Amino acid sequence: MTRPTGTSSETGARRIAVVGLGYVGLPVARAMARAFPGTVGFDIDEAKVSRLRSGDSVDGPVPEIERGLLPVTTDARALADANFYIVVVPTPVDAARRPNLEPLRRASRLVGELLKPGDIVVYESTVYPGVTEETCGPLLAERSGLRCGVDFHVAYSPERINPGDARHTFESIVKIVSAQDAATLDAVAEVYGAVVEAGIYRAPSIRVAEASKVIENIQRDLNIALINELAVIFHRLGIDTQEVLAAARTKWNFLDFRPGLVGGHCIGVDPYYLTTKAQEVGLNPEVILSGRRINDSMGTFVARQTVKELSQVGAELRGARVAVLGLAFKENVADARNSRVPDLVRELAEFGVDALVYDPLVEPAVARRDHGIELVGRDGLRELDAVVLAVAHEGAPALALELLRAPRARVLVDVKSMIDRADVPSHVRLWRL
Ligand SMILES: NC(=O)c1ccc[n+]([C@@H]2O[C@H](COP(=O)([O-])OP(=O)(O)OC[C@H]3O[C@@H](n4cnc5c(N)ncnc54)[C@H](O)[C@@H]3O)[C@@H](O)[C@H]2O)c1
Repeated sequence: MTRPTGTSSETGARRIAVVGLGYVGLPVARAMARAFPGTVGFDIDEAKVSRLRSGDSVDGPVPEIERGLLPVTTDARALADANFYIVVVPTPVDAARRPNLEPLRRASRLVGELLKPGDIVVYESTVYPGVTEETCGPLLAERSGLRCGVDFHVAYSPERINPGDARHTFESIVKIVSAQDAATLDAVAEVYGAVVEAGIYRAPSIRVAEASKVIENIQRDLNIALINELAVIFHRLGIDTQEVLAAARTKWNFLDFRPGLVGGHCIGVDPYYLTTKAQEVGLNPEVILSGRRINDSMGTFVARQTVKELSQVGAELRGARVAVLGLAFKENVADARNSRVPDLVRELAEFGVDALVYDPLVEPAVARRDHGIELVGRDGLRELDAVVLAVAHEGAPALALELLRAPRARVLVDVKSMIDRADVPSHVRLWRL
């Protein structure tokens, strides 16, 4: 790719390119396109881009694309006129749970080829402190032949979008911005300030902003891990965790977390970014990793409870049919990345139990590709011995109760405590986390 010649952003007109059009990047690109004419969206995934163009994305047609405000492309040349790049690519972990920075590196090399003097590159991906300036900046400099912090500038603005949450949207969440110097910070705050209604928070440095994002997810992970550990203890003591939490919640400063399966590509993944960095500097983050271990064990714990409950009602374990309602990593989303439900399914299978996984939101091909799970349709939920209500999708509790009307179904495992004890049919044993 040749490096384009062209003017810098000194003209004042921001021409925005969003690199990565996923859960986070697309809403960012849409908001930018409404405020900044000429905004372009780029993704390396051809299938995704063609679906976005044809109005066939997961969330249906995208108005800004339909109205011609937001061209989307896999052709990097379409970004050559941009002077304000926003990079929102995945930051997963590898099989050994080490940060995989390859998507960020690849996106940085691509943007580096396009950079012109005066350009600004903002990273939004969740990372550990130092990635923007130590990993991305040097790659941009190497590819562009320009000096980072002199000819072009980097910035970081973490994302707090909450998929499936209509209240906390890109526009309605305070946006943290940070940059290499005061002038860049002003420019970045101005761009985001034009689209984020909730306001802008200027962090004193890029590393502070990077750290602030990663600890938001670590704090949530650990709080849930504590409640999960308590749930396991209370289970052993024969106490209902939900009843304990309901009582404790009446204290003004009790933190309202609930037990459950912690999946997804943020909360269950981001802690490893910071722990890896901590280990690199000779620290062993015990609390954070303990929390991870507890949360990662919950799918197996729930499966074993299901097996015990089946035994209690005298069901034959080998060949027992258990409906598992929900595969997505959380309620009312189609995203099953890093879902912990497959742990539960695997453990049930170890006991010879036949788990029938039903999730109307998750695409069957994705369930097969990512988890090796063949989703069943509603018709497949027959002759059941038990129902595991794993994900709190809308309509799932009603479906569970409907399935439990059959006399053969004698166990309900209500992972998220969605069903009132009083509503459970009398022939059914209820176990909840
Ligand atoms: N989804 C969330 O709830 C959420 C919330 C806050 C922060 N984040 C963070 O935001 C980042 C992106 O997450 P996401 O949920 O949008 O991921 P995603 O997988 O939904 O989307 C990422 C997109 O980037 C594309 N991509 C990958 N490599 C690319 C490259 N080199 N160049 C261009 N495009 C590329 C992928 O094809 C995909 O469409 C991650 O760091 C994540 O941790 C996510």
